[in-house]
Amino acid sequence: MSDAVTSDPIRPADGADDVEAVILVGGKGTRLRPLTLSAAKPMLPTAGAPFLEHLLSRVRAAGIRRVVLGTSYRAETFSGYFGDGSRFGLEIDYVIEDSPLGTGGAIRNVLDRVSAPTVMIFNGDILSGVDLTGMIDFHRRQQADVTLHLTKVDDPSAFGSVPTDPDGRVQAFLEKTENPPTDQINAGCYLFQRTVIESIPAGRVVSVERETFPGLLAGDARVYGYVDSSYWLDLGTPAAFVQGSADLVRGIAPTSALPAPAGDVLTLPGAVVAPTATLTGGTALGRDVSVGDDAAVAGSVVFDGAVIEAGATVTRSVIGARARIGAGAVVADAVIGDDAVVGPRCELLGGIRVWPGVELPEAGVRFSSDAS
Ligand code: GTP
Repeated sequence: MSDAVTSDPIRPADGADDVEAVILVGGKGTRLRPLTLSAAKPMLPTAGAPFLEHLLSRVRAAGIRRVVLGTSYRAETFSGYFGDGSRFGLEIDYVIEDSPLGTGGAIRNVLDRVSAPTVMIFNGDILSGVDLTGMIDFHRRQQADVTLHLTKVDDPSAFGSVPTDPDGRVQAFLEKTENPPTDQINAGCYLFQRTVIESIPAGRVVSVERETFPGLLAGDARVYGYVDSSYWLDLGTPAAFVQGSADLVRGIAPTSALPAPAGDVLTLPGAVVAPTATLTGGTALGRDVSVGDDAAVAGSVVFDGAVIEAGATVTRSVIGARARIGAGAVVADAVIGDDAVVGPRCELLGGIRVWPGVELPEAGVRFSSDAS
């Protein structure tokens, strides 16, 4: 566990102690396979701590004390690490879905574990700098039933968009289209009045995005958007995962779970780096990692116990626990599973994923998902 330090400049909300948090962490994280074969996505080490620890640190800094985790896939990995939450200054409760209920079904499923009139709900894989206390204040001022965090993106055509009126009231939930009327998209963080959670059908799969939100609008509920342009990243893909970790290390993305921005590199205890190796671009090295002479590791996440041998180059990649990258190998934009072995001078480029325990012993082999 990293020390919980409140270096993140979040102002506790007036009366945030009557807001509880629910974090949805039950997804299978298929886009991050093979890393998510053994651990749930929010438990993957990101800047030296499980991603969820960074999110929890921001929840706590906002003045929220009680958190319910809506789990399903790999549920036991959460309670094993976070326990009752007291080490993190929180009270953490767990609800397990036997089979995944979707985002809306998961929210409805935790109803009897929350008692606050207002509940803040987070997708457990979003890294964001949104002003949580500002969002709570806005929700109260508007006397909203639901408030969504909306983030502005450069290319909204890749997402469904959410136009609002000048007061912030949501006008529509629009599907993906080539020319969306707004650059505001659903950022995966919501405030719900408890009464709205009660209205979600129980015991079946419900998508909050596709079913609950459009239904609320159709019923004339007070649905508002809290628009902001702070840091925002969905860590769902390997490229976003390495980006998010590097941004946390460099202090570009907010967290209160690191004592201070680590600078360009974060190295956990027990990591051994040869003096002639170079580490750059927000690289995070886990415990007992070894990096050999003249190796170069840039913008990457290296899990505990991995070995990067002399002269290897690792760029924007994730190296699984205890994996070995052979001497002179080149690994770029790749995901290497736990305990995999990449032979000396292999080249793995452009989105290649190596499954856990696989051995690629042959020197000089080149694997690339594109023509590069
Ligand atoms: P992919 O399989 O790669 O799309 O990832 P995912 O399974 O995490 O799905 P997605 O990124 O769409 O999920 C957004 C957030 O909701 C994540 O934090 C998930 O953990 C969570 N989530 C998705 N589906 C469920 C579910 O059925 N139950 C619970 N409790 N959480 C869910």
